[in-house]
Amino acid sequence: MPQNAGLQQIALQLIESIRDTVHRACGPTVSCTDITNLATRLALMHFGGRGYQVPLGRFDSRGPATEEQVGILPGPDDSVESIAQTFYQRGNFDLLDVVALSGAHTIGRASCDSFKNRKGENAEFVGKLRRNCSSPLPMPQDLDIQTPHTFDNKYYENLLEHKGVLNSDMALVHHSDTIKMVREFARNEDWFLTKFSEAMQKMAHLEGEGHPTLGEIRHNCFKINGNNGDTAAQGFAVSA
Ligand code: HEM
Repeated sequence: MPQNAGLQQIALQLIESIRDTVHRACGPTVSCTDITNLATRLALMHFGGRGYQVPLGRFDSRGPATEEQVGILPGPDDSVESIAQTFYQRGNFDLLDVVALSGAHTIGRASCDSFKNRKGENAEFVGKLRRNCSSPLPMPQDLDIQTPHTFDNKYYENLLEHKGVLNSDMALVHHSDTIKMVREFARNEDWFLTKFSEAMQKMAHLEGEGHPTLGEIRHNCFKINGNNGDTAAQGFAVSA
């Protein structure tokens, strides 16, 4: 499994069950891509984030994402340079977008595999993470240790206190350009919420690998159309 396995299976299943409901009511008229995009925005707003414009009428790629495609996601021990490259290769993102998007870790949790190599100067906090990982039943760790269920700027405050969970989170305070953005987002929540929504809007409009009109609407988000075989082990991909 790649270091960052992407959306949890339970989230993928939720998208598929929404697709099933919509297709039963209206036929195969809405793509997994559109449903994923709309559900992402709704989840963000549910936790207190701001809305943004989502394109509708996009097609799906032919099949679910392969393990290789999921492996392109940035990993928990990646440097700022490497994370930035991943985003730059996909679309018109700049470093401020990358720092803002990292703020998504104001919600959600990570498993031990993602932070067992956490380095850093806050010995007490790192010790706590390590003790959790060496216990017989390690618990998933909130990525925002202050307000894990609210979409706010506390993630950046945590980073400044060296209480980021992933090495990739902490990398943002060890880089001379990104530390300034972290400080500004920690100081000005309104600016963070605005920049995050703008970056998500860019993400929602990213083009897939094929031509926009060459895709199709998948009849099951986990499968290639016409294939009734096994459900794919990995998630499903963005639009064509
Ligand atoms: C900047 C580079 C990023 C890296 C290196 C990264 C890495 C990770 C890792 C390793 C996890 C924990 C996975 C686990 O242990 O189960 C995680 C969780 C999460 N990430 Fe990221 N991520 C990045 C950017 C993003 C972006 C751009 C978003 C969304 C806009 C995002 C949203 C999330 C969420 C919501 C979770 C929690 C998932 C859950 O609770 O199931 N991440 N990320």
